[in-house]
Amino acid sequence: MENTTDFFDIFQDDPSFRDIMKRLLESSMEFSFNGVTITEAKKGYPIVYVNPAFCELTGYGPHELIGKSPTILQGPETDPEVLKRLQEQVPNGELFHGQAINYRKDGSRFMMEWKIIPIHNKEGEITHHLAIQRDANWKPVGQDFAP
Ligand SMILES: Cc1cc2nc3c(=O)[nH]c(=O)nc-3n(C[C@H](O)[C@H](O)[C@H](O)COP(=O)(O)O)c2cc1C
Repeated sequence: MENTTDFFDIFQDDPSFRDIMKRLLESSMEFSFNGVTITEAKKGYPIVYVNPAFCELTGYGPHELIGKSPTILQGPETDPEVLKRLQEQVPNGELFHGQAINYRKDGSRFMMEWKIIPIHNKEGEITHHLAIQRDANWKPVGQDFAP
């Protein structure tokens, strides 16, 4: 995938590059319309971070998700074929993109669409996974977003 602009280049020469990158990432996560989840790359994929959009999407608070597996979202109608493909692709460091029925905290169903991206350390080992998630059937309604 090609970037239209490289945002690292924009701020590279600024002496507070690190702080700017931190704020940029924090704001992107905090204000994103998409859910963002970070898990450890070990058995059960324990969650270490969820953003506000993910909590809004699923109805869980962060404290109810940290340390748990994303399987908490699955239930009887979650397509096992999609999970099988995930189990083949994710441990190999491949990009996963799929959708399956998930369940919110209140038990209501929705079609989750998500991508999983491997995060490597400088030795090249996968230490974490980043997921971007959304309700695949969400449709915008005419609405003013003024505060
Ligand atoms: C970063 C990440 C995000 C995930 N997000 C979801 C999700 O939103 N919905 C879902 O049904 N499964 C999700 N999964 C997949 C479940 O964790 C997956 O079914 C499970 O890890 C398979 O592992 P198992 O071998 O314990 O069954 C995610 C996995 C990872 C690594």
